[in-house]
Amino acid sequence: MKNNYKELLEKYGSPLYVYEYDILMDRCQKMSDFKNYLEKNINKKVNMHYSTKANNNPAILKVIKEHGIYVDCMSPLELSINQKCGFKNYEILYVCNNITKEEMSLVNKNNILICLDSISQVETWGSINPNTEIMIRINPNTKGVGHSSSVVTSGKETKFGITEDNFSELFSICKQHNLKIIGIHQHLGSLFLNDKVNDYIAGVKAGLDIIKNDFKDIKIIDLGGGFGVPYMELEDQLDLIGVADELIAVLNPFIDSYPSVEEFKFEPGRFIPCEAGLLIGTVTALKHENNTWWIGTDIGMNELVRPSMYDAYHHVKVLTNNTEEITANVCGNICESGDVLAKKRVLIKPNIGDIIIVENAGAYGYSMASNYTGRLRPAEVMLYSDSEKLIRKRETIEYLESNIIW
Ligand code: LLP
Repeated sequence: MKNNYKELLEKYGSPLYVYEYDILMDRCQKMSDFKNYLEKNINKKVNMHYSTKANNNPAILKVIKEHGIYVDCMSPLELSINQKCGFKNYEILYVCNNITKEEMSLVNKNNILICLDSISQVETWGSINPNTEIMIRINPNTKGVGHSSSVVTSGKETKFGITEDNFSELFSICKQHNLKIIGIHQHLGSLFLNDKVNDYIAGVKAGLDIIKNDFKDIKIIDLGGGFGVPYMELEDQLDLIGVADELIAVLNPFIDSYPSVEEFKFEPGRFIPCEAGLLIGTVTALKHENNTWWIGTDIGMNELVRPSMYDAYHHVKVLTNNTEEITANVCGNICESGDVLAKKRVLIKPNIGDIIIVENAGAYGYSMASNYTGRLRPAEVMLYSDSEKLIRKRETIEYLESNIIW
């Protein structure tokens, strides 16, 4: 069934998210190898918490769980899905930002460790959940990492984390409510590859210096996610063991000087499902206007928002019997000029009805999909070597209308 995309679209509707199980397994294994290698070389517990926001499909989460990888989540739905997939309380981390009292109560009631990212949220948490243990997100104020300014989460431009200027107030709020800071978290941004490992390590060093200078008796240090994947053909795979080696060089001297630390956590999101995922759609129109070819498809910005939101690159392929090449923009069916999936790509000129494939769509694809302009979110299918399984149904108009009060 793998590669029989036409049959899959006929069966499950177009467009369609598919995930290649073998690739998913491989990326989970790579993350487990990273964990084991690091653990062996720093002699401390290391836990990976997959960031559910990248893709919350239970079929994917279950594969992740089988590899001994834990999760982080940031909303009641993600928490509920994690629990239904069988993750235990201690395997779930609630990493949040600007949440309500009600959400905080839910997290506390479920006995999940929370990571709070402003003194205001610490105050709110303390007022309803005194005498508890918490984690704090710091902003190490370094350059950070990220494929776009919207996803860099360190430095003066970001809404995340607490900086050193506010630590004395943080400590007095914690004292007031008898909150114990047992863990420090930082996440420097999303997507670094081999050429940006230096920036990631610089951020790690800065964070460790802050912990050493300002925090006593911290047990857990969470160094966030950001592990990138190559979207462009010329980019290389991230050398995870190389990242681990750089980390070992920084963590070992830190551990020697900070004996209370028991565990390091990481929160990889994109790395695990991204390359397993393809978004498959259908060519619905072709036009040549103002000297530009436009390939119209049924893949709108509602199905994959990354290109229009971040100007992100996704490799696009056309499956056709034609041979003539054109340079074209590939766009969707949403009434916005920004609804462009790929710009100025050299592609085989398709016929209407041909299949179009968007690669590396497994992370922040379905999870960021919406119903904008009343479009239905597609089905998701897991592809095994000789079979396939529907893992989320395509939405229906009836389902979406069921919430409307007429
Ligand atoms: N931990 C925290 C606290 C995060 O905010 C994130 C991602 C991660 C871990 C996982 O980061 P990753 O390993 O996936 O880079 N929608 C954007 C990415 C936003 C990432 C937000 N936070 C995109 O499509 O590129």
